[in-house]
Amino acid sequence: MSVLLTGGLGYIGSHTAVELLENNEDIIIVDNLSNCKIEVADRIKEITGKDFKVYVADLLDREAIEKMFEENEITEVIHFAGLKAVGESCKKPLEYYTNNITGTLILLETMQKFGCKKIVFSSSATVYGSPKTVPIKEDFPLSTTNPYGTTKLFIEQILQDLVKANPDWSCVILRYFNPVGAHESGKIGEDPNGIPNNLMPYINYVAAGKLDHLNVFGNDYDTKDGTGVRDYIHVVDLSIAHLKALEKLRNMQGTDIYNIGTGEGYSVLDIVNAFEKANNLKIKYKIAPRRSGDIAICYADATKAKTELGWEATRTLEDMCRDAWNYTKNCIK
Ligand code: NAD
Ligand code: UD1
Repeated sequence: MSVLLTGGLGYIGSHTAVELLENNEDIIIVDNLSNCKIEVADRIKEITGKDFKVYVADLLDREAIEKMFEENEITEVIHFAGLKAVGESCKKPLEYYTNNITGTLILLETMQKFGCKKIVFSSSATVYGSPKTVPIKEDFPLSTTNPYGTTKLFIEQILQDLVKANPDWSCVILRYFNPVGAHESGKIGEDPNGIPNNLMPYINYVAAGKLDHLNVFGNDYDTKDGTGVRDYIHVVDLSIAHLKALEKLRNMQGTDIYNIGTGEGYSVLDIVNAFEKANNLKIKYKIAPRRSGDIAICYADATKAKTELGWEATRTLEDMCRDAWNYTKNCIK
């Protein structure tokens, strides 16, 4: 009996794999390596001292996915696999819809065929669009501003329709806020392709001398220092939330949705300052115009996850900054 992790060699999947293995779960990973390296599997094995099967396959390849279900007794799926770059999704919408939605449909049809009826899905705070108030609760109105976000919203709807029509299915949807940091071993972490879009990887590249300075996108927002505020969550805390979700999934029917964040908002300048302090170095930055599509403030009300899953984030902003840099120093050349 195994838990299947789709996209399990990616940033969040690999950290979750470590937590699952350390909790004596049997896992299988499927990944098409479109945004990760196969060596990550060795890193996971080194950290945990445990072995597991890896299928290098695409969710769009129905035959390969069916074969994997035939060869293994998969009891639950944690579905991370997907393309995730907002800007790219605006340029290549069809690629995003096909990969994320068709990939999910093939996965769900295969699960149905093999009687596997339990799934945890990686959604995003992006489904809240531009929230009218903060902190954001799970029942806030949903909307999206880009194809990536729309794939998350559509998949959430597909899952809810599926579970409604088949009451023996169960589904936990996790809406992640801003995952950052890395495993404390420094062996796995976030390894973006090309120039990073997101704040923490960008700061790390500046610290490593790969980029000259950080552009702070806007200092005229209605926030404490004018820069954008987000709910940054340590990727290990986020991974532990998946253990709790799996526990819940095994004892429920229907669909449950949880925000996975710390409930605290930090500004861009807070992150720069915390990174400098945690790692004792200087980050050069310049104030730049706002980035189109950005919102001023986004942070979670994470009480539902605390009450119903018994989960809450424990790692600090200092931990996030230290662990991110530790990984960058060790692994990003
Ligand atoms: P990631 O790109 O590091 O991991 C995704 C993995 O899925 C990659 O290893 C990629 O190779 C694989 N993959 C993509 N399409 C596939 C396909 N068709 N078949 C098989 N494998 C495929 O991303 P991540 O940061 O680990 O994110 C994991 C999930 O969480 C994604 O669904 C993402 O949208 C969601 N999410 C991420 C963030 C974030 O900031 N990282 C925030 C909210 C939600
Ligand atoms: C981004 C995605 C969102 C996804 C989330 C988590 C966009 C528009 N949105 O959110 O869909 O769910 O990541 O992965 O990409 N910033 C700078 N300079 C930079 C980079 C970022 O000032 O070089 C600022 C941004 O303006 C923002 C904050 O840092 O205020 C965080 O940005 P980022 O890390 O890209 O995450 P989000 O925009 O919150």
